Amino acid sequence: MVKSSILFATTTILSLSTALADEGDIKADKAIISAGAELYADNCAVCHGADLEGAEDWQGYNEDGTLKPPPHDASGHTWHHSDTLLFDYVKLGGTAAMAKVALEDFNSGMPPFGDTLTDEEIWNVLAFIKSSWPEDIQQTQREISEEERALKETKGE
Ligand code: HEC
Repeated sequence: MVKSSILFATTTILSLSTALADEGDIKADKAIISAGAELYADNCAVCHGADLEGAEDWQGYNEDGTLKPPPHDASGHTWHHSDTLLFDYVKLGGTAAMAKVALEDFNSGMPPFGDTLTDEEIWNVLAFIKSSWPEDIQQTQREISEEERALKETKGE
């Protein structure tokens, strides 16, 4: 009897501390997302829209042959890409990010932010963008990123 109540007390303490840890994680995530939201408003909204909605008629081209800024919400194709590609796209800009995946001379309208934002800030903006997607789309994008990571590992990259 004594034994089982000690066991009960221990499990209760254990599950309490997991609950607390989870709450801490959620708070940290919220801080990251709101930092990302601010950075997005300052650096990205001018082209990609204040509500992540993209340019009007974003599927068309500009006269100079560049693409229009796509939406970053679930209606666009941001979630079709791995974390690595999204990160490179923001840090290096579209032309250099595409060159890295062997598409040379891509005429991109997406400027590089490597001199304006730290790596951490770029991840914060991406966290904010992802937070606008429904859970199943977030899950699909996580799987795309994991598959790419696994592929790179088998290639020894
Ligand atoms: C001067 C306008 C402009 C600004 C500012 C800008 N972008 Fe872009 N972005 C574009 C255009 C245009 C594209 C379309 C693809 C291309 O031309 O390379 C794009 C594409 C992207 C893509 C890849 C395509 C996709 O599927 O989503 C990402 C990711 C992205 N932008 C994120 C950002 C983030 C994050 C910021 C702010 C830090 C930002 N952009 C600021 C114009 C801009």
